[in-house]
Amino acid sequence: MDKVAIVTGAAGVLGETIARAFGKAGYRVVVSDLRAEPLDRLAASINEGPGQAVPYAADIRDFDRVKAMVQDTIAGWKRIDVLAAVGGQGLGRLSGTRKEKLLIEHTDEDWDLVIETNLKGTFHCIKAVAGPMMEQRDGHIIIMGSNIGTTGRTRAGSYGTSKAGLYGLMKVAALELGEYNIKVNVVNPGRVAHPGDVVDRNIQESLLKRIQDAEEVADFYVYLAGMRNVSGQIFNLDSRIMF
Ligand SMILES: NC(=O)c1ccc[n+]([C@@H]2O[C@H](COP(=O)([O-])OP(=O)(O)OC[C@H]3O[C@@H](n4cnc5c(N)ncnc54)[C@H](O)[C@@H]3O)[C@@H](O)[C@H]2O)c1
Repeated sequence: MDKVAIVTGAAGVLGETIARAFGKAGYRVVVSDLRAEPLDRLAASINEGPGQAVPYAADIRDFDRVKAMVQDTIAGWKRIDVLAAVGGQGLGRLSGTRKEKLLIEHTDEDWDLVIETNLKGTFHCIKAVAGPMMEQRDGHIIIMGSNIGTTGRTRAGSYGTSKAGLYGLMKVAALELGEYNIKVNVVNPGRVAHPGDVVDRNIQESLLKRIQDAEEVADFYVYLAGMRNVSGQIFNLDSRIMF
């Protein structure tokens, strides 16, 4: 297998699981995150085979760094088949330090942190991989969304806004890149637990009375990356009804 995937947010719960799934499927994987420290261990584990991995510390808010990651990937592995844009940030659980806030309590700094990471960061990643993918006339861009972008949620104003914005970003990218055979989609993963999370409400809301497995989401990423005829779509991997 000479297929190459870049996974951002690979130090996180979903990103790591997605990176491992691509490795298990034999991909060469660039495992990237703002947090460099967990990446070496993840790359070493994927390098046990059948896939290969290299760690790459990058802040997706920094376009020059994202561009360098893409250039280094092309220099080493000659192509990029998949961008799994998983890296993301919220106030509260995802940030680890900040508290979730009502919209009217958000400071400009709170707002910019979330919007710049989720929306601008994903834009940077798409912009950086588009060139090589256009040359190849092939590629998959899979954007990590959230159902909060569809439904909204109290105390998730910046997060929900950023995730709703990703739907628009995906649609424009899918429209503009389709003629180069680049597929662009959003995956909303449902509720995936972090160690210590309280998920009683999520289980109650679920038709199946459970939360989502990160592995099931990751397997879907690999399957979608093998599809030739699907673009411009939003996939809800969930067991809650939400329109
Ligand atoms: N866990 C869930 O229930 C859930 C539900 C819906 C959507 N999501 C989305 O899935 C993605 C991953 O979430 P997770 O649950 O694995 O959380 P996580 O906190 O474990 O992972 C997020 C990762 O993104 C990285 N990151 C943050 N800012 C970054 C930046 N500027 N540059 C590069 N990397 C950065 C973090 O370091 C972290 O490793 C996020 O986009 C999140 O919005 C998660």
